[in-house]
Amino acid sequence: MTTTDLPAVCVIEKQVQYAPWTEKLFADGLDRHLCLVAEQDGQIVGFAVVQFVLDEASLLNIAVDPQLQKQGIGRVLLDEVIHRAMAKQATTVFLEVRASNRRAITLYQMAGFNEMGLRKNYYPTSHGKEDAVMMALMVF
Ligand SMILES: CC(C)(COP(=O)(O)OP(=O)(O)OC[C@H]1O[C@@H](n2cnc3c(N)ncnc32)[C@H](O)[C@@H]1OP(=O)(O)O)[C@@H](O)C(=O)NCCC(=O)NCCS
Repeated sequence: MTTTDLPAVCVIEKQVQYAPWTEKLFADGLDRHLCLVAEQDGQIVGFAVVQFVLDEASLLNIAVDPQLQKQGIGRVLLDEVIHRAMAKQATTVFLEVRASNRRAITLYQMAGFNEMGLRKNYYPTSHGKEDAVMMALMVF
């Protein structure tokens, strides 16, 4: 992901997130995190943002253009994240996901992630709060 990718990344982000990251948040992440885009025919169709701290990787954000979901792009992005985590000798990839997001949870389970616990009332929703499911994948 580069600065010129940010408008396209934000178009996807705004379509898929209840509380979308701002362009500034993505821009700040470019220097600090591993920020990947998936491209198809020269168009940005998805992205992932990963934070590395010591031997831990945390998947902070991942999304695919809603019109191109269910075609394997999310899995390609996630596999790349896992690959990069292994290459950086991380031991574990962590993530948090809304408890209602069955699609994402299925994707993570298929990639080998396990549920580690819940953060109660973690995410805002239109009708209050919802739990976060904490998941982890050992990669060493
Ligand atoms: C989660 C997300 C990134 C998955 O991207 P995607 O490109 O649709 O995922 P894939 O096509 O690679 O699907 C991978 C697996 O996810 C699961 N999956 C995908 N769509 C699904 C659906 N509609 N219902 C149930 N499972 C589904 C399946 O296990 C699928 O494996 P399969 O292709 O063998 O059936 C995408 O749905 C998205 O951007 N969602 C909105 C943002 C979001 O929720 N991000 C995660 C925040 S933690």
